[in-house]
Amino acid sequence: MPDVTLTRVYRFASAHRLHSPHLSAAENARVYGKCNNPNGHGHNYTLEVTVGGPVDPATGFCADLPALDRAVHAGVVEHFDHHDLNTLPEFNGLVPTGEVIVQVIWKRLAAAGLPLRAVRLHETRDNVFEYREER
Ligand code: NI
Repeated sequence: MPDVTLTRVYRFASAHRLHSPHLSAAENARVYGKCNNPNGHGHNYTLEVTVGGPVDPATGFCADLPALDRAVHAGVVEHFDHHDLNTLPEFNGLVPTGEVIVQVIWKRLAAAGLPLRAVRLHETRDNVFEYREER
């Protein structure tokens, strides 16, 4: 039975500031530009979560959609929405760039036991980050 994937779309709004403790103030300003503004800024993120597996012949489904929704809402949307990502413990010591956020989301969803295939995070109209692991 071939695998089929299901991608579900979620949205949340969060604030962040890009500032690395490994860089000087001048380097932070140069590398991150206005994203290094001490007051931070926000994004309306769009998250695409792809899960997959063989299609169950009894149901015709490849994944448990309500379980996916519950896991993403509890693990990501309710946790991140209207929060400053820099203040959340999972970003402690990390710079909450799209590259890092997408990996944090993967870890949180993988810990919930989802059959993850890919996590994509749209940070702006033009920036999309994707994380997947070889299976
Ligand atoms: Ni930003």
